[in-house]
Amino acid sequence: MSTKIFLNEQDIPRQWYNLAADLPTPMQPPLGPDGNPISPEMLAPVFPMNLIEQEMSQERWIDIPEPILELLLRWRPSPLHRARYLEKALGTPARIYYKNESVSPAGSHKPNTAVAQAWYNKQFGIKRLTTETGAGQWGSALSFACSLIGLECKVFMVRISFDQKPFRKTMMQTWGGQCIASPSEETQAGRDVLAKYPDTPGSLGIAISEAIEAAVSDESGQTRYSLGSVLNHVLLHQTIIGLEAKKQLVIAGEKKVDVVIGCAGGGSNFAGLAFPFINDKINGADIDILAVEPASCPTLTRAPFIYDHGDIAKMTPLLPMHSLGHAFVPPPIHAGGLRYHGMAPLVSQAAVEGLITPESIMQLECYEAAMLFAQTEGMIIAPETSHAVAMAIRQAKQAKEEAKEKVIVFNLSGHGLMDLNGYDAYMSGKLFNYSLPQEDLDKSLEAIKGHPPVTAAKTGKW
Ligand SMILES: Cc1ncc(COP(=O)(O)O)c(C=O)c1O
Repeated sequence: MSTKIFLNEQDIPRQWYNLAADLPTPMQPPLGPDGNPISPEMLAPVFPMNLIEQEMSQERWIDIPEPILELLLRWRPSPLHRARYLEKALGTPARIYYKNESVSPAGSHKPNTAVAQAWYNKQFGIKRLTTETGAGQWGSALSFACSLIGLECKVFMVRISFDQKPFRKTMMQTWGGQCIASPSEETQAGRDVLAKYPDTPGSLGIAISEAIEAAVSDESGQTRYSLGSVLNHVLLHQTIIGLEAKKQLVIAGEKKVDVVIGCAGGGSNFAGLAFPFINDKINGADIDILAVEPASCPTLTRAPFIYDHGDIAKMTPLLPMHSLGHAFVPPPIHAGGLRYHGMAPLVSQAAVEGLITPESIMQLECYEAAMLFAQTEGMIIAPETSHAVAMAIRQAKQAKEEAKEKVIVFNLSGHGLMDLNGYDAYMSGKLFNYSLPQEDLDKSLEAIKGHPPVTAAKTGKW
């Protein structure tokens, strides 16, 4: 029995998988300020046209350009681990596997799309990228990618994480990126928020507004914005995770997968692992695919499927997604990367179809799971990832109760070596469970009440 299943470099997947081509009901288009579907030209000040084409593509398979494969080979294919020690501690008949995305230079799945996005921008003649970051993983990943490719990088980091994780800023600077706490005085969007709420912990919605403003206000036209999650092309780039995992499971001798799990913030690491398995499910496979979010930021489990902006200043188009409201400022839980108000449209649509099942978990169960994982498998995982681990443990315990030999696969989206103050707070008894009160959710949703509803197409097959 192997503990780690490696894929040879020459067997790395050479195409990304685009779920948009296979969804049983078509995605609704993003809408502009006038309520009409946006044209590619309208996105041109924000993204390069080659990525806009990918964003709108309906092709099932999209070739990964050779130079991007070269970049990915620095750390890919990532290992698939069999969680033998965790299995033993749980006494479960389940076989648990995890795809270890923490082996990338920045420590998470984020570089999979960062190198692709930086490469496409460079091809298009762009010199500088702006972005936002929550926990700091995405800002580090894009700084790393820009340093490989030769682009400047400016990162607006959510204030609470900026304060909690100073070493993430050092990582970004080491790769030549510039990191600024958001909201900042650098942009109108930042100044507006600070004038109203000087002590705000910040949010991804605010940081996105700042980063887009910084990109579109560069009159030279050489700056573009880059997003680390949510959009179709970002999820597309991440599918290399699930495509590799499927090959590795075959090597491990598995004929059937029962449960696939990922934590969900904006939806990218979940989609990366899950979408190739959703393809199997659409073609008849019987798989439970679980997206796990924090109970404090319950986008998929409690928010409506509605047209909403991706940012607080309404600079993005209206996207068809589950949303807690674009002005939602989540409580400062430690899983900074799961504090986003929206969910990727593709993931949202898959949830409406019943192809995936959303679940939410409280913070303390997640840390308990992370501690058990560290003490069995050894790795100290990111607080975001702990949501996937907590769900894998729940599933493994259920398999034990039912005496079933289930195969469970989850995405280990990142390590937690820059997140140790969260662990410290947990071990000092300073963390508590927090589920978003209904009044707070209602208040946030009030602000988007007039937004167009999404006609939630559903075939009823799943
Ligand atoms: C390690 C890790 N996992 C998960 C996430 C959540 O993002 P997404 O849902 O896009 O994968 C983040 C975001 O910062 C992250 O850093």
